[in-house]
Amino acid sequence: MFFQTLALAAAVGSAMAQRPANITICDYYTTALLKNNTATNQKTLLTLVVNTAVIGNYTTPNVGIKVPGILAPATVNGTYVNLAPYFTGALASTNTGGSSGVSVNFLDGGGAAPLMMNMAANNTNSNQYTLLTHLYEYFGILLGCSLQGGADYSTYEGDVSQYEVHKFMQLGYAQVSYFVEQVGLSAASFGVATEDVTAVGTDLMNAFGYKCEPPITIVKAQGAQLQSICDDDTCPLAPNSTCAAYNNTIPAPSNATSIGSGSTATGTATGSGATGTSTSSPAATASKAAGAVAGMSFAAVAGGIAAMFL
Ligand code: HEM
Ligand SMILES: *[C@@H]1O[C@H](CO)[C@@H](O)[C@H](O)[C@H]1NC(C)=O
Ligand SMILES: *[C@@H]1O[C@H](CO)[C@@H](O)[C@H](O)[C@H]1NC(C)=O
Ligand SMILES: *[C@@H]1O[C@H](CO)[C@@H](O)[C@H](O)[C@H]1NC(C)=O
Ligand SMILES: *[C@@H]1O[C@H](CO)[C@@H](O)[C@H](O)[C@H]1NC(C)=O
Ligand SMILES: *[C@@H]1O[C@H](CO)[C@@H](O)[C@H](O)[C@H]1NC(C)=O
Ligand SMILES: *[C@@H]1O[C@H](CO)[C@@H](O)[C@H](O)[C@H]1NC(C)=O
Ligand SMILES: *[C@@H]1O[C@H](CO)[C@@H](O)[C@H](O)[C@H]1NC(C)=O
Ligand SMILES: *[C@@H]1O[C@H](CO)[C@@H](O)[C@H](O)[C@H]1NC(C)=O
Repeated sequence: MFFQTLALAAAVGSAMAQRPANITICDYYTTALLKNNTATNQKTLLTLVVNTAVIGNYTTPNVGIKVPGILAPATVNGTYVNLAPYFTGALASTNTGGSSGVSVNFLDGGGAAPLMMNMAANNTNSNQYTLLTHLYEYFGILLGCSLQGGADYSTYEGDVSQYEVHKFMQLGYAQVSYFVEQVGLSAASFGVATEDVTAVGTDLMNAFGYKCEPPITIVKAQGAQLQSICDDDTCPLAPNSTCAAYNNTIPAPSNATSIGSGSTATGTATGSGATGTSTSSPAATASKAAGAVAGMSFAAVAGGIAAMFL
């Protein structure tokens, strides 16, 4: 069974050899944690890392690192952060192609419950399924999964510009930092070495954490695109900034008057799937832990320097 493999790997996690420079983070940790470096196992690794980043640590074996999760409120450097409303449909913050943001419920596929079973969602026609699947694919590319692109693990074919995807959210530095910190903590909770966690955190901040970045190629087939996810005036200005390429007059998102498409949201801050489950569910645990983590490991995640995405 897969969890036994993971348990064994986690137990020896601290003794893991250093990753050779010519093996990507994805390939290296797929082998370390799941033994065979196959496309399916690479997708499983990314499923574990993304699901854990979103709802907090839920796999029993980890190396003792608690992950509150992206949906849990927190305080980053004294700034209160709560990303859940962007996912529940509480805010009119999704870009569906019009000139203003729209409310969409992205937790309409069972919320946290299927994520805890290493799935994207209960139903493939949900917004949740599309979002989580796209995140597995996108982060697989960021982490250099060498076997991505076939039937077992598709390449990313979502929106080409992360600026366009996120522009009506008008995210600030604390919010983007929190998201990146959770991704880093998730990786660390599976035993990913500090140097690798740091490199990924730095790459994510460099690619998405500045405003007005010039076009950057993330997915080769999609070419250079505007990628700034950090948009408001708390965000540091990118070196070689090209603010004229961005729309600088988008207002902060407004509260949704009614929750949008695919709506089954409960409006709880920790994801609909977690509501009514035991208080030890990851999202509930995460919620209780809110604030406790702030900044703690952020320096490790975002510090240092690294080449892009290897
Ligand atoms: C900093 C690194 C981040 C990366 C690499 C990233 C990446 C992505 C990707 C690949 C998608 C899917 C796009 C598609 O399906 O076409 C997405 C969607 C989304 N992201 Fe992010 N994201 C980041 C930060 C954030 C933050 C800080 C938030 C805060 C709320 C956020 C909220 C969302 C939401 C709500 C969606 C769904 C939007 C939609 O499909 O229209 N993301 N993100
Ligand atoms: C990585 O480099 C080592 C030693 O330099 C070599 O033996 C190995 O075949 C290389 N691996 C890959 C996947 O290129
Ligand atoms: C690895 O792959 C080989 C060949 O496909 C298979 O026989 C073996 O059971 C796999 N091992 C694990 C741990 O999945
Ligand atoms: C999350 O990780 C922490 C630290 O290892 C652990 O104490 C906690 O039980 C984990 N939570 C779940 C739901 O596995
Ligand atoms: C937190 O504050 C410190 C000191 O001002 C600063 O160096 C660091 O970049 C800040 N981090 C975040 C995520 O805002
Ligand atoms: C999703 O599936 C899980 C596992 O089958 C189940 O426990 C849960 O109730 C389902 N949730 C919804 C909203 O259908
Ligand atoms: C800024 O642009 C110059 C000229 O194109 C380039 O040499 C330099 O590497 C860029 N700096 C950054 C941080 O991208
Ligand atoms: C910029 O955003 C505002 C507010 O959403 C919109 O009304 C305007 O048309 C946009 N401008 C451009 C050039 O897209
Ligand atoms: C949105 O709702 C929150 C919480 O209910 C409230 O504090 C805030 O003032 C509202 N914002 C607007 C623009 O109505």
